[in-house]
Amino acid sequence: KLLSQHSVEGSYESRCIVSEIVHLSFRSPKMDLETALKGCSTALGFFLNNRFADALALLKPWRNQSMYHAMGYSSILLMQAGMTFDPHDIDAAMASLRESLQTCQRFRKKTGIVQTLTKEMHAELCYAEVLLQKAFLTFLDESIIGFIKGGMKIRNSYQIYNTHIHFRGGVNMGIGSFNLMLSLLPSRVLRLMEFLGFSGDREVGLSELREGAASNSLRSILSTLTLLMFHLYITVILGTGEGNLTEAEALLEPYKEKFPNGALILFYTARIALLKGNITFAQEKFLACIAAQEEWRQIHHLCSWELMWAYSFELNWREAYRYADILCKESKWSQAVYVFQKAAILSMLPEEEVTELGEDVVELFRQVDGLRLRIAGKSIPTEKFAAKKAQRYSSSNPVKLAVPALEMLYVWNGFTVVGKRPDLTESILTILEKAEEQLRDDPDPSEYHVDDQCVVQLLKGLCLRQLGRLVQAESCFNHVISRCGHLNTLIVLNIFLDIIVYMAFRTSCSNAILHNELIRHLICRMNYKDYNMESRLHFRIHAALNTMGSFSAKLPPSRTPA
Ligand SMILES: *[C@@H]1O[C@H](CO)[C@@H](O)[C@H](O)[C@H]1NC(C)=O
Ligand SMILES: *[C@@H]1O[C@H](CO)[C@@H](O)[C@H](O)[C@H]1NC(C)=O
Ligand SMILES: *[C@@H]1O[C@H](CO)[C@@H](O)[C@H](O)[C@H]1NC(C)=O
Repeated sequence: KLLSQHSVEGSYESRCIVSEIVHLSFRSPKMDLETALKGCSTALGFFLNNRFADALALLKPWRNQSMYHAMGYSSILLMQAGMTFDPHDIDAAMASLRESLQTCQRFRKKTGIVQTLTKEMHAELCYAEVLLQKAFLTFLDESIIGFIKGGMKIRNSYQIYNTHIHFRGGVNMGIGSFNLMLSLLPSRVLRLMEFLGFSGDREVGLSELREGAASNSLRSILSTLTLLMFHLYITVILGTGEGNLTEAEALLEPYKEKFPNGALILFYTARIALLKGNITFAQEKFLACIAAQEEWRQIHHLCSWELMWAYSFELNWREAYRYADILCKESKWSQAVYVFQKAAILSMLPEEEVTELGEDVVELFRQVDGLRLRIAGKSIPTEKFAAKKAQRYSSSNPVKLAVPALEMLYVWNGFTVVGKRPDLTESILTILEKAEEQLRDDPDPSEYHVDDQCVVQLLKGLCLRQLGRLVQAESCFNHVISRCGHLNTLIVLNIFLDIIVYMAFRTSCSNAILHNELIRHLICRMNYKDYNMESRLHFRIHAALNTMGSFSAKLPPSRTPA
């Protein structure tokens, strides 16, 4: 009641009240389930109102005694880790999840008395959920081994969920996320999982999560956030297709009313607008999201990342540079990627302008390799990819990348946004045609010449396809296919993938044999060990095969070793 009277966020009064609540809850002799659920609701309210420290302060003292406090506490740390990818935050989240498991463990399977049954079920559920979160954390590691290990870990929670299927509230969230996560796995891994007794049914996952989001339980926000993450990020980055934006909007609507200034809410509102091609509105909302709070700088970095792309989509390289530069200076997530991105954006500006900004493109590209992170001795695939691309600048006679910023736009699936705006697509096409001309007229072709030509042709084909000029698009794609023998970089595999999906749509199944050949070719190529971002590609292949549905079933058994 007091809090609602002092609605000024972060004000001295409201901080005093929070500390009073914490204090009182300490004095309360025991934490029963009902009190715990109420406390967590309050914490959740704080969290959605950008009062992250307050939320943590409320949960922290009870995390050893109350499983819901434990879960809430580690959920927030997990989100933080997911946003920063900072090894320190990941460790902290992992440690907290371990503690939460212990807390839940204490409430599990103690007695068979009826009174404790409810509590015990809650404990089972919390335990399973924390396990699921731990698996998510493992999934952050982009390697196939990581996926399998993550899957093995979820196996435990999956069985728990299965046996408590009637316990709806929280089960939706668990089963839903679980199926969704599995449905994203590359088919080879999925087959292995199926062998272990899992099924990754995306529709089941989505409908469970929908039900969870619609319920009025503590977990509905978690289901909602998971669904939004799926529609607005996972499908875009890993899949070939589109999330369901209509559904995402509907899910967000009630929270927009309740938490109009909530950073996460503003962020997702902006992201939806961006994916719809409403770039100006998205930019406004990302800026509003930055202005909404100062406590979690990581959210500013996420917004800067999105703003960098939003301005890139508009070919406003000067503004895009501004945000790339902010990321380079402020965010620790991946310096190699940021510096590469900054250099790529600067490559699109006239040289005088770059000099005026006090930047040196060649020098920036040369820095990329040295900035790569190693986590537990392993390098990060996205960074490896950037370093490989930047390599050609390291020689004393650097060879320029043809259209690096547009290529990155492709790698990060930005064409799904740009494609919605014929005006922008036309502008990109003009840039590509200029690049094509320059390459054609190059008097002294470098060793990267064919690579560059293929990149330009692919991007040109994508633009033409988006503009409905299908015959011309196909001729670009054919150009790429005819030269594939000379290439073996990641982009080639992506090119194949896009072409296959494209042809599948265009010719439906009449040309199934060609498709099969292409897929076989693709899968064989996947066996080369040195592929950058191999996992992501596996994901995309899986998604593409799903998209093509019917004839993926006719695929001959894979000749690749499991
Ligand atoms: C919670 O338990 C852990 C170990 O089980 C202990 O290290 C920590 O001090 C405890 N925290 C509180 C607040 O009791
Ligand atoms: C998107 O979700 C809405 C609501 O859940 C559903 O009615 C609609 O059919 C979905 N659209 C697609 C393309 O899946
Ligand atoms: C962008 O979205 C906002 C809010 O939904 C809407 O008012 C505006 O008309 C949209 N603009 C365009 C160009 O679609």
